[in-house]
Amino acid sequence: MRTTLFPEGFVWGVSTSAFQIEGATDRDGRGPSIWDAFAGGAYGDPACDHYLRHADDVRLMQDLGIAAYRFSVSWPRVLPEGHGRVNGPGLDFYDRLVDELLEAGIAPYATLYHWDLPQALQDGGGWTSRDTAHHFAVYARVVYDRIGDRVDTWFTFNEPWVAAFLGHASGVHAPGRRSASDAFVSAHHMLLAHGLGLEALRERGAARAGVVLNLSPVLTPAQLGDMSLDIPEEDAEAVARIDTLHNRQFLEPVLRGRYPAELLPLIEKAAGLGHIRDGDLDLIGRPIDLLGVNYYTPIAVQAQPSAPADPAFPGSEGVLFCSVPTAVTAMGWPIMPSGLSLVLRRLSEEYPETELMITENGADFEDVVTGDGIHDVDRISFVEEHLRALRTSIDEGARVRGYLLWSLLDCVEWADGYRRKFGIVHVDFTTQRRLPKDSALWYRDVIKRNGLGAERPKRPTLETVAARAGVSRATVSRVVNGEARVSPDVRAAVLRAVQELGYVPNAAARSLVTRRTDSVALVLSVPRHGGEALTSAVVQYVTSVLEGAGKRITLMLADTAESHRRIVRHVEARQVDGVVLVPPDGPDTLTERLTRTGVPVVLLGKPAIASLVPHVDVDNAGGARAATRHLLDRGRRRIGVICGPTDLVAVKDRLDGHLATLHEEGLRPMIALAGPDDGESGAAAARELLSGGQAPDAVFAVSDELAIGALRAAREMGLRVPEDLAVVGFGDIHAASCTTPPLTTVRVPAADQALALARLLLSRLDGRHTSPVVLPTRLVVRATT
Ligand code: FCB
Repeated sequence: MRTTLFPEGFVWGVSTSAFQIEGATDRDGRGPSIWDAFAGGAYGDPACDHYLRHADDVRLMQDLGIAAYRFSVSWPRVLPEGHGRVNGPGLDFYDRLVDELLEAGIAPYATLYHWDLPQALQDGGGWTSRDTAHHFAVYARVVYDRIGDRVDTWFTFNEPWVAAFLGHASGVHAPGRRSASDAFVSAHHMLLAHGLGLEALRERGAARAGVVLNLSPVLTPAQLGDMSLDIPEEDAEAVARIDTLHNRQFLEPVLRGRYPAELLPLIEKAAGLGHIRDGDLDLIGRPIDLLGVNYYTPIAVQAQPSAPADPAFPGSEGVLFCSVPTAVTAMGWPIMPSGLSLVLRRLSEEYPETELMITENGADFEDVVTGDGIHDVDRISFVEEHLRALRTSIDEGARVRGYLLWSLLDCVEWADGYRRKFGIVHVDFTTQRRLPKDSALWYRDVIKRNGLGAERPKRPTLETVAARAGVSRATVSRVVNGEARVSPDVRAAVLRAVQELGYVPNAAARSLVTRRTDSVALVLSVPRHGGEALTSAVVQYVTSVLEGAGKRITLMLADTAESHRRIVRHVEARQVDGVVLVPPDGPDTLTERLTRTGVPVVLLGKPAIASLVPHVDVDNAGGARAATRHLLDRGRRRIGVICGPTDLVAVKDRLDGHLATLHEEGLRPMIALAGPDDGESGAAAARELLSGGQAPDAVFAVSDELAIGALRAAREMGLRVPEDLAVVGFGDIHAASCTTPPLTTVRVPAADQALALARLLLSRLDGRHTSPVVLPTRLVVRATT
């Protein structure tokens, strides 16, 4: 790894927001905000008690060498009723803070709205009322008049998408509304407030003003794995629509003074267009000096006929939001540094005149407080990888002037309260003691160097644990593996050392391997439900990805008890660094025996018994839901299901998805159990359903094989498909498109599963945080429905 320096004058800083850190919600005349009401006292006060400890926090930043601090001003602290009476002591607080920052050599960057609307304004309609935008402009003036002489960088809004859509459409944020109309209207009024606020700041003489947007690239699940792939034609519209709702809804008005043409019908359908008045967009589109970019994670979608709209994205009917086959933070947000480069490339291409600043980027990981600090290697890697991506984008011409890390302190993460840890400084919320994590010290070095050093942060290793506990490495590994022959005292000492050092046994399991072999076992259980196509995709893609990463693959067939024993022995003997396991159908002990070896294992399919072993699965329940919904949309009301053995997890999930959908509609299920997974038993189950008291007008089969049998039975009974009986299968095997008529079914991604498996194992071998990957399925509508 080489040293990577940033351009001279590049600004290094941190961001926070008022509600998340200040506390003191009813001190010195502050009025209530919508977040106080939403939190109902569960969080928000004392938060980080920053209102009283600001001087210490500024000193902390000074010690870290922070050059810019982006904070937000709490509107209800300044104007307790939102307008009218100004609260002097509230302004005094920001006045002191700014002086302290300047004294410490830190540039203050002020954000005027980071979501804490005065409750009094909410009572008058909040952001659904146009008046709120005008009140905002007055508030901007009041704040500027007090600290504008010393603050030269201003942001009107932080992430209006979140405030409008999570606050008013999905309701997971304050004020907790669930109305698509309110969300679009609020979004417009926030944009208008931005325009009016910008005008106010400019009139008063602000040196530099802009807005902060949360931007995410919108991609298909396959593109996330390989960005050189084109968007498949069938997904193009879904991708564009979500990009419009999430990104362009704000970029275009602010930077071009117009709404995207494709957005207007979506707004109109939900809210009409009456709230958008002549002249609004001219005001919203006045030039800004700086666009703040908050980047955390990409969005993955694909087209899915019959998918209902996601509540946070009104207008997203027919779009499926997918989980992403990659490592995630504790928050579950996929880690994808190249997503930052995509956002920046797009901005440079489409809005080349705009100056940019990364105003937020960071990660929530669980921290372990140890006797000698907090070794948050995952957070360091996250920031480091994003900085590398950023540096590349700057080389490519992106006009990025600085990077502000989210966040200085562990703080209130909105509706998640105190449990999220985004800080580079740990806060003990009982004592309010601050403790810089390793990431803070690392960031200090980055700032000092104006770039990244050649060294990678080191995780505590087995050796470190052994040294701390005063035992041998073998003993540590015995304890970590849960082996019995260790005395209770020694075990306690080792576990204490593990805890104190923040050694993560899971992520660091590879260090249990005393010698890297650079070999990986691909264990295939045969025969297996789910078909040859999947097995051969696994062999092909897992091999090519892992070989590409320099691993040798040992292919091992697990078909007999003896072969299971041989495989376990091989892994126990540390002949491999990791295992990709295609587990046997149904209950088995192979998975458990392999994971007990301590060598990283990743599984295909959700295990029957819940466990911590990372696995790749497909959204079986979601596919069954889409299939059943599709039949309902076609007017079918008597829907039978042909079900295979429910001790297979996938079959059980499919059945559950089907039953849940019927239940939502108040419909009664009709279940026929099939024997083996073939046409014969599918036909028998269909005959049973069709000759029952109430004959179905549709059949959903949990596999294509069973569905093909059902088609045959229907034909033999003289029923027309789909007129008399609609049929849907699951799997999209090759034969599904060759039946007469061709079968409607749910496609299960084979290559994507295989790629995700390989990537998951590489993440594990890298000692990265991993969690299960669930890939989307897709309804393929053909002539049987
Ligand atoms: C952003 C918010 C910020 C913080 C981070 C994690 O969306 O702007 O306040 O919650 O996410």
